[in-house]
Amino acid sequence: MTQSYAEIYKRSLEDPEGYWGEAAAGLHWHKPWDRVLDSSNPPFYRWFAGAECNTCYNAIDRHVEGGRADQPALIYDSPITGAQRTFTYRELRDAVAAFAGVLKARGIGKGDRVIVYMPMIPEAAIAMLAIARLGAIHSVVFGGFAANELAVRIEDAGPKAIVSASCGIEPGRIIPYKPLLDEAIELSSHKPDFCIVYQREQVTADLVPGRDEDWEEAVAGAAPADCVPVAATDPLYILYTSGTTGQPKGVIRDNGGHMVALHWSMKNIYGVEPGEAFWAASDVGWVVGHSYIVYAPLLHGNTTILFEGKPVGTPDAGVFWRVISEHNVKVLFTAPTAFRAIKQQDPNGDLIGNYDLSGMRYLFLAGERADPDTIQWAARQLNVPVIDHWWQTETGWSICANPAGIELLPVKLGSPTLPMPGWDMRVLDENQQQVAPGEVGALVAKLPLPPSCLPNLWNAEARFLESYLEEYPGHYKTGDAGFIDEDGYVFVMTRTDDVINVAGHRLSTGGMEEVLADHPDVAECAVIGVADAMKGQIPFGFLVLNAGVARDNGEIVGEVVGMVRQRIGPVAAFKSAVVVPRLPKTRSGKILRGTMQKIADDESWKMPATIDDPAILDEITEALQSAGYAKGA
Ligand code: COA
Ligand code: AMP
Repeated sequence: MTQSYAEIYKRSLEDPEGYWGEAAAGLHWHKPWDRVLDSSNPPFYRWFAGAECNTCYNAIDRHVEGGRADQPALIYDSPITGAQRTFTYRELRDAVAAFAGVLKARGIGKGDRVIVYMPMIPEAAIAMLAIARLGAIHSVVFGGFAANELAVRIEDAGPKAIVSASCGIEPGRIIPYKPLLDEAIELSSHKPDFCIVYQREQVTADLVPGRDEDWEEAVAGAAPADCVPVAATDPLYILYTSGTTGQPKGVIRDNGGHMVALHWSMKNIYGVEPGEAFWAASDVGWVVGHSYIVYAPLLHGNTTILFEGKPVGTPDAGVFWRVISEHNVKVLFTAPTAFRAIKQQDPNGDLIGNYDLSGMRYLFLAGERADPDTIQWAARQLNVPVIDHWWQTETGWSICANPAGIELLPVKLGSPTLPMPGWDMRVLDENQQQVAPGEVGALVAKLPLPPSCLPNLWNAEARFLESYLEEYPGHYKTGDAGFIDEDGYVFVMTRTDDVINVAGHRLSTGGMEEVLADHPDVAECAVIGVADAMKGQIPFGFLVLNAGVARDNGEIVGEVVGMVRQRIGPVAAFKSAVVVPRLPKTRSGKILRGTMQKIADDESWKMPATIDDPAILDEITEALQSAGYAKGA
């Protein structure tokens, strides 16, 4: 008998070991677990303690052996280059085993870190899976980050090897990756033993003799490597994410819990059956790409689409519909910003009519708050349920969603619906008291968290405890604020830290401030996220110059914009700043970024009681108006 969401959710909280133990049965374990959940050392919890498994085996080999050898596993569709390639599960297994052989022959084994800095080509997924095959740990760095950000990650992860490609391709320009990689290695005190570089036909990279090797040549001489069983609690990957300071946090993902939660989610949340095509239009450099381009669809025996392009301009706002109809995609998962971009260019959805989308079942959105306008537009145009779901790099899968594969729950616009199994969500005030339904506070989850969530931060246990577990003892702090209504629906309103979401990309304003502060003429600065019709938010900077600086302000702004692009990367989309005489602060010296953001976005705001000098806010308003914001102020 099929169970309702309410029954499943209740059981998951009352009997987590029974619930997730049963969910784990659909996967292959080299050795069974001693405990489904090891709670012996709170606040550290470990799922499937004592078990041994291999994520790559479960994602690929298991399906080759189980009858899916000739089914497409991965379809690469690249409107930006015009290329398309399909890998069956057998072909993907062979490519992954061969590349694992390359790494193994060069000394990579269990627990070694390997950084992957690649564009959206199949070799990126092949590298990730090959690293997992050997029980090594991958750390994928998004291609839109600059050399300095890559260097910070090399320094922290200490990789034995780096896998890269000769270039990435953005509309209208080719980005040679190799100079960025060389510069990053130069900047980092840790040096990898070797690099493997995939040469794309658009650009050939110069290889450093003795350190760099050509991917194709290395694979040609490789003996395939087999899957290495690892402890379920061993790390599968480290993914760096923004928050609180310019130093990114290395979120660790385990093997066992991750496999179980992701495998479970494909049927129960996304409502797809093995064999069907699933498309997450994201990038392997983000958590959505890790979970829903690479691991979850493969763990579940689906066909995954790896798309190298943009929702608009490659070549037009109809490309999503072309991909869905051509590959018979049942479920599309992307960020609301992609739909805002499409809607802007094709407001009446005229291009949709050119394609057969009758096979499409659901559209899932995540990565940023889904605005009701975008949801309603998409639902009208596509005639399928549009499901907002909320999750984070730290969790690897949804905290809240509408579980289409269990039952479609009534939708409340602005809410990602209800908590998924294992998520015991609360809203707490600053005194750690639960607030009444509808009241805004910190969104936290009662421990233990369900499988797949971060067990720790790489090399930073104290920061892990401080960032997530200490402020609300016994709970995980999501870093989001919001409320839960009388029906239990969760509403995610805003971040409580310095994270902003730019086109679905998570960035730290603190990290940008560190860059601005390095400009020789800048005495003080602040960066806030201001509302943007397409990207959701974009960063905006305020600069206070050193006394006596008499240079042209526009020149200085141009220089800091260039510095952020150079040090963080184009993905930061930092394009505007203004020079102001002073910054508004509390009497204790805290910059009032929240108030500045509300003024910029024309939201209602109250004069903070602790403000040092209220007149400064007039200067800020004027500066924002000169930049086109705070129009109603
Ligand atoms: N390598 C190098 N540069 C990159 C890059 C990469 N992998 N990805 C993005 N960039 C660059 C872009 O070229 C752009 O540079 P520019 O300032 O010179 O134009 C800048 O970084 C910002 O890129 P992007 O955020 O993609 O903005 P855009 O204006 O080019 O496109 C959208 C806007 C909405 C079409 C685009 O952001 C998008 O498709 N978003 C989908 C959301 C998504 O994938 N989210 C991931 C989580 S689900
Ligand atoms: P990332 O770690 O890049 O996935 O970003 C996670 C953050 O994005 C969350 O903490 C939220 O602030 C925001 N976010 C993701 N999904 C949603 C959503 N559906 N609604 C509101 N905010 C979201």
